[in-house]
Amino acid sequence: MKKKILVTGGTGYIGSHTAVELIEDGFEVVLIDNLHNSEAEVAERIGKITGTKPRLEVFDICDREKLNDFFQRNMDVSAIIHFAAYKAVGESVSKPLDYYWNNLVSLINILEGMKDYAVPAIVFSSSCTVYGQPEKLPVTEDAPIQPAISPYGNTKQIGEEIIRDTVAANKNIRAVSLRYFNPIGAHKSALIGELPRGVPENLVPFITQTALGLRDELKIFGDDYDTPDGSCIRDYLHVVDLAKAHVIAVKRMLENKNKHDYEVFNLGTGQGVSVLEAIKSFERVSGIKLKYKITGRRAGDIEKIWADPSFANRELGWKTLSSLDEAMKTAWEWEKAVRKKN
Ligand code: NAD
Ligand code: UFG
Repeated sequence: MKKKILVTGGTGYIGSHTAVELIEDGFEVVLIDNLHNSEAEVAERIGKITGTKPRLEVFDICDREKLNDFFQRNMDVSAIIHFAAYKAVGESVSKPLDYYWNNLVSLINILEGMKDYAVPAIVFSSSCTVYGQPEKLPVTEDAPIQPAISPYGNTKQIGEEIIRDTVAANKNIRAVSLRYFNPIGAHKSALIGELPRGVPENLVPFITQTALGLRDELKIFGDDYDTPDGSCIRDYLHVVDLAKAHVIAVKRMLENKNKHDYEVFNLGTGQGVSVLEAIKSFERVSGIKLKYKITGRRAGDIEKIWADPSFANRELGWKTLSSLDEAMKTAWEWEKAVRKKN
């Protein structure tokens, strides 16, 4: 019988790509999402890609009663991948309580549910934001956690601590925190991808929207950093590569291959790419000359960060397969497809 995986935030950007990979790997998938930042139609699109439309339950995970009701009807959930969270860094500064409430209450409810309904395994979406500006690059998992720059980042740090303590106190629960670097791109079908509401905060959606004429020009936030071309450096990985790591993490726990009850992995390519290099990649794959200008630095930006993914490479047998150009190309194909539809 197929093992059932609950994917919270399952109609969102990374959740939807992970649902595809899970279904294609033979899992049954059930999605929960309150559609705060995504659309129900994504479940149909996952169905178009895989041939199996996952069931979507629409409710807020902060609602403990609704979540309990879900678990009562789904006593056979084998593992949870918990993506549901608010993720806009800037908004978290102006609405900290919304972020602490949504991201932490939802996590606590999920962990309570795991205890009450004997769900043994969880994968948590964490972020390289927990490292702040690391002293040593590439950054390894044992690098010191820095004071969070935003309430959003703080919810990831606190979330990891809540999980660590819960696993320590409950011998039937195991967990993996995945610290994502910068996911970009979309499924090759161009049926699912990143669809930010309003003005995008992230670089790649801003680039693709500018190229389509939805934005006048991209602002590059600073060219006076201590990097080879002066712009900030990140580790951009293809969202499908990222999604596959979740499938591996789930199987590792379900097959008792984990070495510790709580494990943490960096997920990145290991390559640092500057903002200007990312733009060049986009121009190469799209054939479009992007309109951009250099402006001042964005408050709170990290100068440079990229992953040492060797622990995930070794322990999970996972590595990124797509190049930056391939990821950019899928982001561009998705942007064009989604605008045609809307
Ligand atoms: P997303 O906004 O596309 O997906 C999150 C989904 O969760 C949305 O569909 C939203 O409607 C849903 N959701 C939010 N709160 C909910 C609640 N209380 N109940 C039910 N559903 C709820 O974001 P994403 O980019 O797919 O990110 C997924 C996870 O990965 C998040 O936890 C995010 O913080 C983390 N993460 C993302 C990035 C990134 O760059 N995208 C980087 C590091 C970590
Ligand atoms: N950038 C621009 N112009 C823009 C947008 C971004 O120059 O319009 C630059 C930023 O200054 C940064 C780089 O592009 O140097 C990447 O910026 P993003 O906002 O795409 O990504 P960040 O690394 O700043 O933040 C992202 C997520 C956070 C998460 C973090 C670490 O937005 O949620 O990665 O995972 F915490």
